[in-house]
Amino acid sequence: MSPALKIVVVDDTPASLELVAESLQQDGVEIFTATDPEDGLDLIYREHPQIVLLDLVMPKLNGLQVLDRVMEFDPAIDVILMTAHYTTETAVEAIQKGACDYLNKPISIPALRARVEGLLAESRRRQRAYALDSELLETSSFEGMIGRSPLMWELFARIQRVAPHYRSALITGPTGTGKDLVAKALHNLSPANTGRFVTCNCSAVVETLFESELFGYVRGAFTGANNDKMGLVEFAHGGTLFLDEIGDMPLTTQAKLLRVLQNQEVTRVGSVTPKKVDVRVVAATNRDVNALIAEKLFREDLYYRLAMVELKTPSLAERKEDLPLLEKFFLARFSRQFNKDLKGITRRAQIALARHSWPGNIRELENAVGHAAMMTMGDTIDVEDLPPAVCGREKTGELARTAAVGDDAEAAGSFADHERALIADALERAAGNQSEAARILKISRDRMRYKMAKYDLR
Ligand SMILES: Nc1ncnc2c1ncn2[C@@H]1O[C@H](COP(=O)(O)OP(=O)(O)OP(=O)(O)O)[C@@H](O)[C@H]1O
Ligand SMILES: [Mg+2]
Repeated sequence: MSPALKIVVVDDTPASLELVAESLQQDGVEIFTATDPEDGLDLIYREHPQIVLLDLVMPKLNGLQVLDRVMEFDPAIDVILMTAHYTTETAVEAIQKGACDYLNKPISIPALRARVEGLLAESRRRQRAYALDSELLETSSFEGMIGRSPLMWELFARIQRVAPHYRSALITGPTGTGKDLVAKALHNLSPANTGRFVTCNCSAVVETLFESELFGYVRGAFTGANNDKMGLVEFAHGGTLFLDEIGDMPLTTQAKLLRVLQNQEVTRVGSVTPKKVDVRVVAATNRDVNALIAEKLFREDLYYRLAMVELKTPSLAERKEDLPLLEKFFLARFSRQFNKDLKGITRRAQIALARHSWPGNIRELENAVGHAAMMTMGDTIDVEDLPPAVCGREKTGELARTAAVGDDAEAAGSFADHERALIADALERAAGNQSEAARILKISRDRMRYKMAKYDLR
């Protein structure tokens, strides 16, 4: 059984409070009520409900002020405002402050029920998804890589099949997609896992030193070679040599590397005697190898040799279904690292993350979650905590948030009506200019276009 969902109702008129509370009575839902807004806030802090129903006009604190405090406490709480004094200004304000609905009094009980049912269903789905995600995180991890999208499963399966047998492999994929992790996985699952995993970052090696670095040299091979020196290939004997950013390897070195791969022997610079080595070579690049070959910057024969086993790491954009899991994974990691008890990411922050295009892939996501985990004052990450580049200029997730939970909640009627009116009004004020109207409502142009289509507005 999942834990009960909670609703807090705050209304200074006892009769109306009772009516609302009674009409929402059902199994699996606990309802708390308060006639005093301060008591209501105490209840909210204590019970941490999923849904709050607020009367707009109350003595001491009005509904909008309570709404502010609720959003400060947890922006993920769904707040429905109830009012007998509807004005467009308060509706706009409520939506911008993060309310998800705005119902007219006297409350239509069927409309209220329909609206709350929709929100409860969404909360239950989230509860389930959350429990599921925690298990999934364990079952969706492979050698330190998280993923359950078809593309990642395919990658994991390929690594597993290939690892026991390969002699050389090429990992290609955009930056930040986990090529280093794939290389380590290949090593860890191969018979060479008892040997060393030696990394050579080809973009960091000075061209003239490349060969002595990789193949070693003998005394007197060049000025300054006062002793024999072992190269990385020999050092990796019995294990794996990881050639990162192989696209940056000079052509002459590529030719010699090919010989190492073909003959499994290495000749130190200045020597004529080859030496047998037993080494697996994994190369990686985020560049387009075919383009490099076309420009004669990469040897085709070396490519074919390496690409007998080619593993492609997909971009994050190709596997966005992995986002929630990756978010959770990094959140848990930074939670430990920063010694914070971080509980989650608000829905609107998740929406912002889902909208981003992630050119820097997992590395960018990792940095974004790290940044947010550091910035957040509370135990939940919200849009404001995310790096500006990620959440874009879209400070107002509110309409988006509404849309995420209630696009099909037309039954509730009133909110859709308000929203339609708001959008029509903004369009009018902007003299039909969509971008301007979007700016007035602080929503994106895409959102604006979507809403206009939804409400058939022009
Ligand atoms: N599937 C994944 N699950 C969890 N973490 C991942 C995953 N893929 C990558 N990461 C993390 O993302 C970061 C970037 O990964 P990595 O360094 O392997 O990228 P790369 O493909 O080698 O990028 P580049 O081409 O820029 O070198 C690392 O911190 C890594 O741990
Ligand atoms: Mg890398």
